[in-house]
Amino acid sequence: MTVPRIDPFHAMTISALAHELAGEGRSIIHMEFGQPSTGAPRAAIERAQHVLATDPMGYWESQALKARIARHYHDSYGVTLAPDQVILTCGASPALVLAVTVSFVPGARVAMARPGYVAYRNVLRALHMEPVEIACGEAERFQISAQAIAALDPAPDGLILASPANPTGTILSAGEMQAIIAVCRARGIRIISDEIYHGLSYGEPAHSVLEYDPQALVVNSFSKYFSMAPWRLGWLVVPPEKVEAARARMGNLFLTPAALSQHAALVAFDCKAELDGHLATYRRNRDLLLKALPEMGLTHIAPPDGAFYIYADIRHLTDDSIGFCTQLLRDTGVTTAPGVDFDPVDGRHFIRFSFAVSTDLIEEAIRRMVPWFRAQAEKARNAPHTA
Ligand SMILES: Cc1ncc(COP(=O)(O)O)c(C=O)c1O
Repeated sequence: MTVPRIDPFHAMTISALAHELAGEGRSIIHMEFGQPSTGAPRAAIERAQHVLATDPMGYWESQALKARIARHYHDSYGVTLAPDQVILTCGASPALVLAVTVSFVPGARVAMARPGYVAYRNVLRALHMEPVEIACGEAERFQISAQAIAALDPAPDGLILASPANPTGTILSAGEMQAIIAVCRARGIRIISDEIYHGLSYGEPAHSVLEYDPQALVVNSFSKYFSMAPWRLGWLVVPPEKVEAARARMGNLFLTPAALSQHAALVAFDCKAELDGHLATYRRNRDLLLKALPEMGLTHIAPPDGAFYIYADIRHLTDDSIGFCTQLLRDTGVTTAPGVDFDPVDGRHFIRFSFAVSTDLIEEAIRRMVPWFRAQAEKARNAPHTA
C-alpha cells in the first residue's frame, strides 16, 4: 500500500498572493474562503473573557453543550437524541474524519456529488478509501439524486450528502432527501450528512437527514452560522451503537476540543438575533450578486438556496480557472476560488464567489468585476479560433 497523494487547496495559493498584494498596498476583497468576517457573537466573547480570567481550564467535554446541541435537534427538526450521541470535535473537519473511520474500512467506496467540498475526496483518499464522484451539473442544481445513486453499479458502501452544499449553496428538497434515503436503505449504503451550512437558508430551511434516517451520521460545526470558524469547534451525531467507537477515536486522534470554545459556544446558542443579522447581510449580498452576474455575462449558475456561495460557469471565458482567478485578483483585487478545488474534472470551467463579507465590500467587488468581466468577454470574442 502506498501513501495516497492528496491535492492542495488551490484557493489557499490564490489567497497567499492576495495577502502579498495587500502587503504592497493593494486594496483586496476576500471572496475566496467560506468564512464569516463577523467574529463570534458578542455574548460568547464576553463569556470567554470571563472564563479566561477565572478558570485555569483543562481537557474537558461540556456535558451542558452536548445537551444543548441535542435540544437543538429537538427544537429545529423534531429529532430526539441522547446527549451522548453528540461527539464534540475541533470543527467539522475532524468530525468528518471520525464519521468516515467509524463507518467504513480501507478500500470502501463512498459516493458524493461532483462538484463538492474538497475535503470529502481527500479525507477518503488519505484513509485509503475510494471517492466515487457523481457528476452533477447545472440542470440538477449541482445536487445528487436518488436516481443517480440507484444507477451506481456496484452500489457504493457510503454516501456523503451536503445540503446546503459547498460550492453551490443548493439544498435538497425533503422529497429528494427521502428518496435518496430509501435507495440507500435498499442498497445498504451508509449516509454521512454534512449539515455545516444549516441555519443559512434563504427560503425553506434545510432538512436534517436525521428526520428520516436515524442511522445516518451528521457532521456540523460552529464555523458558519455561529460565525466561530477560528474557535475550531464542531460536532458529530452518531447512532447509539456507534457512540463508543466514535468516542474512542475522538479521544485517541484529537483528545478534546478547546475548553474555552465550548464555554463560548454554549452562549452562542442564545445569540440568535445577532446571528440572524449576519444571515440578513448574506441575503442582501446574494441578491446584489444575482443581479450583477448577468451584467458580468455569467448566466449559467444555480441560485443558492443557502450557505454563502455562488458557483458560476466561465467556460466562455477560459478553461483554466486557476489562471483566471489569479488574473482577476491581479487586475481587480477581488479574490475568488477556482472550480478545480471542487471538481477535478470540470472545475477548470468554474469559479466560486463567497459572499460572507460585508455588503459594502460586495458592492465594491461588483463595481470592479463588471467592467473586468466585460473586457474578458470582449477579448474572448476577438481571440482567434484555434479549433
Ligand atoms: C462543506 C464543508 N464541510 C466542512 C467544512 C470544515 O469546517 P470546519 O471549519 O468546521 O472544520 C467546511 C469549511 O469550509 C465546508 O465548507
